[in-house]
Amino acid sequence: MDNLPVKRIHHIEFVVGNALQAAYFYRKTLGFDQIGYLGPETGHRDCTSYVLQQDRIRLVFTTPLGYQDPRNVFLLLHGDSVKDICFEVDDVDGVYQEAVRRGAVSAMEPEDLEDTRGRVRRAAVRTYGDVIHTFVSAQGYTGVFLPGYQPARIEGKPTGFTRIDHIVANTEDRQMDRWCDYYAKVFGFHQFVSYDDKDISTEYSALRSKVMANDSRNIKFPINEPAAGKRKSQIQEYIDFNYSAGVQHIALYSPDILTTVGMLRENGMKFLTIPESYYDTLWDRVGEIKEDRELIRKYNILVDRDEKGYLLQIFTKPLQDRPTLFLEVIQRAGCESFGKGNFKALFESIELEQRRRGNL
Ligand code: FE2
Repeated sequence: MDNLPVKRIHHIEFVVGNALQAAYFYRKTLGFDQIGYLGPETGHRDCTSYVLQQDRIRLVFTTPLGYQDPRNVFLLLHGDSVKDICFEVDDVDGVYQEAVRRGAVSAMEPEDLEDTRGRVRRAAVRTYGDVIHTFVSAQGYTGVFLPGYQPARIEGKPTGFTRIDHIVANTEDRQMDRWCDYYAKVFGFHQFVSYDDKDISTEYSALRSKVMANDSRNIKFPINEPAAGKRKSQIQEYIDFNYSAGVQHIALYSPDILTTVGMLRENGMKFLTIPESYYDTLWDRVGEIKEDRELIRKYNILVDRDEKGYLLQIFTKPLQDRPTLFLEVIQRAGCESFGKGNFKALFESIELEQRRRGNL
């Protein structure tokens, strides 16, 4: 199937209980700039939205204001969670109609948004859980973000993020193939790589994962499902707390992970702790790398290598009270994979946290 002509991820929108505070947290810990705001003061009486930006990454945090707003149901079920992975396209109507023709379920018919800065077309389809993909075409629009938003600039202290590397879905038991098929059939994405429960298991818990990507590989969506183990899979813990499938983590790319993670730690971001023993055998496994080995160990950064190069990665603890969404910071040196060599250490570390929460 041909790729649906989606160009790039335009932004990610979260629905949260308190967008004012969420925006503050993401701005202060990750160093994003706030660039725009929408709310009662700008003529939108039903919600507030704050737009944060760092290089090519844009995050939007939205809170419904009235108790009767349907987004409260989303909040009740999922807590603070990703609602929309929005794609930039040239022809919203064409892409939307083709997606629906290929089997996508509509979430929003094409419509125009307009203000004094111009007009934007948008439409949306559903994906896993209560997540949607909005298609937006904003060529020629001269405002700060999208119609309705006013400039509301607060400078952040950039931490070196340049783009989204990948966005991971956790799906329910035996639903991974269904959603991989969805991205293949509707979006024309191909399977980039697959990991089974032999790759991703510890003594206690397991998961399966396949990575779907578009042809230009600037959009990569790993899709996980729980697998049986002695104890509860971390994916099942997510599903229990998110109520349904949803976004498990967003990997943000930094060309200089050591500086980025140093700043994030300084800003109070909490990361998973990796056992010291991981570093005992690491250098034999991955060989020479350019970065400072001592800092890698000190910051608890993980390293992996494939035939094409190596990668450095680290995972935060959950970013809200429910053990659901977290972030990954990733730097690649040729390596296009996802850190298979780190799965065991990583999952043991996640299990430690699961156990502390009483969910293992
Ligand atoms: Fe990842």
